[in-house]
Amino acid sequence: MKKIGIFYGTDSGNARDAAENIAKLLGEDNIEIKDIAKASKEEVLNFENLILVTSTYGCGDLQGDWEDKIDSFNESDFKDKTIGLVGIGDSDTYSDTFCDSLSYLYEKTKSGNIIGKTSSDGYDFSDSKAILDSGEFMGLVLDYDNQEELNEERISNWVKNITPSFK
Ligand SMILES: Cc1cc2nc3c(=O)[nH]c(=O)nc-3n(C[C@H](O)[C@H](O)[C@H](O)COP(=O)(O)O)c2cc1C
Repeated sequence: MKKIGIFYGTDSGNARDAAENIAKLLGEDNIEIKDIAKASKEEVLNFENLILVTSTYGCGDLQGDWEDKIDSFNESDFKDKTIGLVGIGDSDTYSDTFCDSLSYLYEKTKSGNIIGKTSSDGYDFSDSKAILDSGEFMGLVLDYDNQEELNEERISNWVKNITPSFK
């Protein structure tokens, strides 16, 4: 398997924590992990295998460092890539915009092979742009504010599910 690039955007550390836990389970030798605030577009596009992690701010917006970078990417940049997406949000306080940020990563990267969609069962929210017509989330969704105790199992299941799809 070629190296996997994990890029995260965080304000208070939760997206970094998720990225690091995913890296541990994937086997750190095969991983490069970086804060998107410090990564260039070229560094991201260097990888055929990618995991992109964002938390959610404002009214369902991308985390700020992702927000600053996202427009520099073209949709076609991702067409030969295999990509897992992770969104982090708060389903209680921001129930109407729960993890909406994931949808902006999805829209930008969907010309590629997006792996690791997940069931929305077990989450309690009113609305989310991260839900596909199939009813699934566009990637892994984590809620550190209300369901932190479920992170370990959710991350572990997701990593098991996506690993065979990386080239
Ligand atoms: C000002 C503010 C706005 C937020 N807006 C949303 C939102 O619209 N949707 C959501 O799901 N979570 C929202 N959140 C929750 C954060 O995404 C959540 O706390 C996350 O775990 C923070 O991750 P980080 O530590 O990687 O920055 C917001 C949090 C703050 C402080």
